[in-house]
Formats: sequence, structure tokens, C-alpha cells
Amino acid sequence: MTRLGTRFTDLVGVEYPIVQGGMQWVGRADLVSAVANAGALGMLTALTQPTPEHLALEIARCRELTDKPFGVNLTLLPTVTPPPYAEYRQAIIEGSIRVVETAGSNPAEHIEVFKQHGIVVIHKCTAVRHALSAERMGADVISIDGFECAGHPGEDDVAGLVLIPATVDRVGVPVIASGGFADGRGLAAALVLGAEGINMGTRFCATVEAPIHPAVKQFIVSNDERATNLIFRSLRNTGRVARNNVSDEVVAILSRPNTTFEDVAALVRGAHGRLALERGDLEAGLIWAGQSQGLVHDVPTCADLIQRIIAEAKARLAALA
Ligand SMILES: Cc1cc2nc3c(=O)[nH]c(=O)nc-3n(C[C@H](O)[C@H](O)[C@H](O)COP(=O)(O)O)c2cc1C
Repeated sequence: MTRLGTRFTDLVGVEYPIVQGGMQWVGRADLVSAVANAGALGMLTALTQPTPEHLALEIARCRELTDKPFGVNLTLLPTVTPPPYAEYRQAIIEGSIRVVETAGSNPAEHIEVFKQHGIVVIHKCTAVRHALSAERMGADVISIDGFECAGHPGEDDVAGLVLIPATVDRVGVPVIASGGFADGRGLAAALVLGAEGINMGTRFCATVEAPIHPAVKQFIVSNDERATNLIFRSLRNTGRVARNNVSDEVVAILSRPNTTFEDVAALVRGAHGRLALERGDLEAGLIWAGQSQGLVHDVPTCADLIQRIIAEAKARLAALA
């Protein structure tokens, strides 16, 4: 398939305007290299690695599996005991990574240092005002996550159909549309809305190379677009996850008056979510997934998925022209 180029693909040096966003426990070298070899941009997830030293090894492992560009996601958590971010950042720089995806709390300090090293920074956020401030901080690309997305959609509840063009209208740097994308129709729509690529999470979980249990991939395939829960709403740290008994219980507990994070802390532990993904025990913990589950019907290789998306997007755009 001939390349489908935008300002974004030129900036990061990939053939196709498709990004595999950071995914805790999923964004490992196996998936990231498969995405890179298929001509799109994969992201290792820094915090999936227990230490900055492990991240350095994972970057090296990924480089053995691909000679194409790939990036690293650095997720900035709103926590009182943060991971050693400066050290993860240094591992990224020393690993000669050329593209970073930041997400979460204020990225200013990190963008500044990455820019000093000539690294392209994609900042992923969920509101136009945050996109504008990230652009002012020096972000080279804005990835805008609509309310449909897996992960943290923010508290404004604005879906992509409005949020994407609203962001494109306000920022000058290339915009990547994120949340709810799973096929070529979505890519064509994103380009028509003025975005210069799409970011996908849920869709990439249901691929051959995603390093998670086949039962989780089939769970995503069998789920429809309604099969998510919004957790942590009352804590103003909303997360969209797949519906299962654990997320149902979290929603039920936090809907009671005077409940706090402590009331659900044991249920939502990251280690439990990791078990769910690795062992295929669908009730072990939280499984992060978005509304795009309703568009996922199979478990292809990354190469087949990306070729299919590009072919479909091109056909849709040609038909419109
Ligand atoms: C299993 C899973 C884990 C995720 N973990 C992270 C993360 O650690 N950091 C992050 O910035 N985004 C994370 N995300 C969000 C994705 O990078 C992406 O923004 C989102 O999935 C886009 O919505 P979609 O699932 O509809 O494609 C995660 C998504 C999934 C499905």
C-alpha cells in the first residue's frame, strides 16, 4: 500500500498516520515493534517497566525487533508518591528515542527537557484548553482524546466529533484524533475533520502481537460499544474501562455518599489488572477498554490491521471525492 502522508507522518518518519498509544502492561516491545514494522508509530509504555533500567532494556529489545521509528509514552500520574520521572526521562533520552507521548498531569518540565534533546513530543490530552497550554509549552503534536476513549477521558464529556475539530480550529501543530477509532472509516473521518492521524488503544489490544491473554482479546471482540464503565467519576479522575464485575462494583461503591478512593483501592490495584490481562482472568481486576470495542470484530496481525485501515480510508476518501 502506498503511504498516506500528513504533516504528522513527515515529522515522525512513518508511512501511515496511525499511532498505537501508550498502554499500561500492553505497550511492550512485542506490540510496538509489530506496529513499527507495519509502517505506523508504536509507543512503549515507560511505566510498564518496573524501573528506568528495565525501560532501557525494553528500548534495546524493541530496537532488535525493528529498525523503524518507535516512541515511548510517559504517563504523568496525579499521585502523591510519583515514580522517578526524571530517571525514566533520562532512559528515554539515552535510548536515542526520537518521539515521546506525554499524557496526564502538567508535562511542562518534561517537554522542556525532551525539546532540549530534539525529541518530538506528542502531548495527549482531553480538552482544548489543555491542548493550547501544551502547545505553548512546546509540544510538537497534540493527541486529543474524545469521551469515547479507553483510559482517562477527563471530566468535560465532549465526544470526538466535536472535540477533534474544536482542537484543530485552535492549535497550529498537527492534531492526532484519539478515542473511538478502530477502522478505515474512522481514519477517513478524522482526516476530514482536520486531524493528521489517529491514535488507537483498544483496537491494538485485539491484535495477534498484543502481549495479553487470548481470552482478553476475545472479550474485546465479543463486547459491544455499551460494554464500558466510567469509574472514579466522583473523584474527578474519570476512567473508562471494560464492564466486568470489578468495574460494576467500583461504580456501585463510589456512587454511595461519602465514599473515597480508599473504599475501592483494593479492587482497582494495578497488579490485579495486570493479572486479568496476563492470565485471561476477566474478573481479576480492571480491564481498560473503550467504546470502540463495538467496532472490533477480529484479532488480526498489526500488519493486516494497518493495511486494512489504510486501504479502507483511501477508498472512503476517494469515493467522497
Ligand atoms: C489497556 C489500555 C491501557 C492504557 N494505558 C494507558 C497509559 O498507561 N497511558 C496513557 O497515556 N494512555 C493509556 N491508555 C489510553 C490509550 O493510549 C489511548 O489514548 C486510548 O485507548 C484511545 O482510545 P481507544 O481505546 O478508543 O482507541 C490505555 C488504553 C488501554 C486500552
